[in-house]
Amino acid sequence: MYAQMIKSEETYEDPKKLMAFQARIDDGDRIEPKDWMPKGYRKTLIRQIGQHAHSEIVGQLPEGNWITRAPSLERKAILLAKVQDEAGHGLYLYCAAETLGVSRDELTEMLLNGQMKYSSIFSYPALTWADMGVIGWLIDGAAILNQVPLQRTSYGPYARAMVRICKEESFHQRQGFDIMIKMVNGTAEQKHMAQDALNRLWYPSLMMFGPPDAESVHSEQSMRWKIKINSNDELRQKFVNQTVPQAEYLGLSIPDINLNWNERKQSYDFSQPDWSEFFDVLEGNGPASVDRIEARQAAWEDGAWVREARIAHAEKKNMAILAAE
Ligand code: 3HC
Repeated sequence: MYAQMIKSEETYEDPKKLMAFQARIDDGDRIEPKDWMPKGYRKTLIRQIGQHAHSEIVGQLPEGNWITRAPSLERKAILLAKVQDEAGHGLYLYCAAETLGVSRDELTEMLLNGQMKYSSIFSYPALTWADMGVIGWLIDGAAILNQVPLQRTSYGPYARAMVRICKEESFHQRQGFDIMIKMVNGTAEQKHMAQDALNRLWYPSLMMFGPPDAESVHSEQSMRWKIKINSNDELRQKFVNQTVPQAEYLGLSIPDINLNWNERKQSYDFSQPDWSEFFDVLEGNGPASVDRIEARQAAWEDGAWVREARIAHAEKKNMAILAAE
C-alpha cells in the first residue's frame, strides 16, 4: 500500500478538511489511526517512523558485534540486555507504522532496496570497547534529546511508543557513561581509547540530528503538523551544551578547536560537521554502510522460513475456526 502511495501523484486534499485537521493539531489533539489525515501527514509519518524503526534494528549491529568481547560477565549481560531493548524499540515502532497502513515486510523491503534510510550514525564502525561507552553516552544521549519531545508528537501510536523507548534509552545512556568513567580512570591506554572513540564519533553524533535547518526539507511542514517538535539545529545545540560539561567531568577533550562558551547566547559555539560527508553517508557510502545492509539482507533471508511457518500456522488456525463454526 505504501509503495502505491508514494508512486501516486494525487495530492489534492479538501481544504476544509485540511483546516479542521490543522486546528486539531494546533489545539494539541492526538491524531489516532482511524481519524482522517492528509496524505502528506501519513506519508511523512511512515517515512519518519519507518526510518526510526530501521535505525533501532540496524543500531543493534555495532553493539551486537561486541557482546562476545565484553570485558566482564556483567558488561556482557548489560550489553546483551541493551541490544535486546533496541530490538524491542524497533518492534514498537514497526507496530506504530503498521497503524498507518504499511506492513513491516514492506518497510523492511524498502530498507533493503535503498528506498528508506536508517540513521547515519550506524554507518560508522565500532572499533574498540570504548566505542560501547561512546555509543551509550553520545549516541543514546543524542537519541534521548531527539526522542523525549517526540513523546508529545501529534500521532498517538508514535507518541505512546516513544514513552517506553525513552525510559529505556536513559538507562542506555547511563550505562555508556559508566563505561566511560571506568575507561578514563583506568590505564593510560584505556584513557587513550576513550579519547580516540570520542574523536571518531563526535561529528557523526552531531549529524544524527539531521542537516542544518536551512537544508532540512521536511522540518517546516513536520513542525507545523507536530510530527517534529524541535528543529534539527535546536536539538544539536542542546546536545552540545549538555555534553561539553560531561566531557570535562571525564577529563576528555571534544575534538573541536572552535568550541567556546558564548556568554551572550548562553550556549556553546561549535564547529559544524562536514555536511558533504553526511550526505555521502546517506547515499550509502559510509564506512560500514555496505556491511549493515548486507547483515540486514542476510537476516531477512535467514528468517524467511520463520515468516512462512507463522503464516502457515495462522492459516491453519483460521481454517480450524471456520470449520468449527
Ligand atoms: N540519518 C539518516 N538520514 C537522515 C538523518 C540522519 N541522521 N537526518 C536526516 N536524514 C534524512 C531525512 O530522512 C531526509 O531524507 P528523505 O527526505 O530522503 O527521507 C533528509 O535527510 C532531510 O532531512 P530532514 O531534516 O528534512 O528530515 P527530518 O525532518 O525527517 O529530520 C530527523 C530528521 C531529525 C532524524 C527526524 O526524522 C527524526 O526526529 N526522526 C525520529 C528519530 C530517529 O529516527 N532517530 C534515529 C536514531 S534512533 C537511534 O539512534 C537508536 C537508539 O537506540 C540509539
